Amino acid sequence: MQSDRKYDIAVIYGDGIGPEVCAATVEVLKAATGAKQPLNFIEYPGGAGAYLKTGKALPDETYAGCLNADAILHGAAGLPNAVYADGTEVGMDFGLVLRAKLDLYANIRYSKLYPGTTSHLRYAKPGDIDYVVLRENVEGLYASRGGGVVLRDVAATDTLVVTREGTERIARMAFELARKRNGAPADGKRRVTVCDKANVLRSYAFFRKVCAGVAKEYPDVEVEYTYVDALSAFLVTRPSHYDVIVAENMFGDIISDLAAATVGGLGISPTAELGDTRGYFQAAHGSAPDIAGQGIANPLGTILSGVLMLEWLSEKHGDAYLAQVAGKIRNVIEKLLADGAVLTRDLGGTATTKEVTNAICSALK
Ligand code: IPM
Ligand code: MG
Repeated sequence: MQSDRKYDIAVIYGDGIGPEVCAATVEVLKAATGAKQPLNFIEYPGGAGAYLKTGKALPDETYAGCLNADAILHGAAGLPNAVYADGTEVGMDFGLVLRAKLDLYANIRYSKLYPGTTSHLRYAKPGDIDYVVLRENVEGLYASRGGGVVLRDVAATDTLVVTREGTERIARMAFELARKRNGAPADGKRRVTVCDKANVLRSYAFFRKVCAGVAKEYPDVEVEYTYVDALSAFLVTRPSHYDVIVAENMFGDIISDLAAATVGGLGISPTAELGDTRGYFQAAHGSAPDIAGQGIANPLGTILSGVLMLEWLSEKHGDAYLAQVAGKIRNVIEKLLADGAVLTRDLGGTATTKEVTNAICSALK
């Protein structure tokens, strides 16, 4: 019944390699949905390029388009030379402002080692790494962006914000996520690891305390508490132990890149950023201006983000067709990686963005 529904997807191509990886994703999504074409892609400007033209990284028309859309797909934002007087990048105000305005409080990054991808960890084999970093996405240290103080050019401060409400909802999502998964690869245990620095800062001790309160509602899921510095080492030495990791915004930003490096890199790491009713999807990588325009960027991170978008839409609207399409694309990508024939440079191959995209599209047909 639902399967004839159409979905408006706001597409923001953005800066650097953003347009290349985003175009690849739209092409794959179109190829995967054949004659049916349930997705209606609507393009909007955003990022550093948009700022240079209009004075806003998130133009009003783009924000309105995002509000009206069923989901938002993004390439990447940011250009190193487009900076404010304080030295911070203007392009960041696309995603950061969107997160805040749409209350996209959960940043979900899956790290799974696929057959065919070589981990930078010498001993890791496919199946050994399969965990999620769940990053609180609207508070923490980054909540302070634009609100810090620079004092007479001799000192600067930013403030870390942790609220009970913000922590409870992200903790609850972590436990719910763990319930749906199959547990950690090492021992099959459903486990939530709370990542903090509770031994040093009150805000992190509070984060831990609130998470512990939520944990009581989930006696079927194991909970543990690990300091971010130790966790960084453990993600390298015993990644199989992890299932779901919940972290404050900045810590989640950092450990999710570390996590990506252990499963083949940022080039294949997707992200879903969710609120209670809205979804924003982009790869974990940035705009990589050093390789922009060369046609060599790995589009898989964004394409897999498109897959997460289909899965989220499917669940939200009870649309089984979209889940089926998502599964199809996922299988094609897993096979492509396992065969190792069409890999971009970051994965040790020589394929271009176009070659990867074409390989996926033709396998979908
Ligand atoms: C990410 C990025 C962003 C962040 C930047 C581009 C604002 O690093 O999504 O991880 O810091 O959140
Ligand atoms: Mg990041």
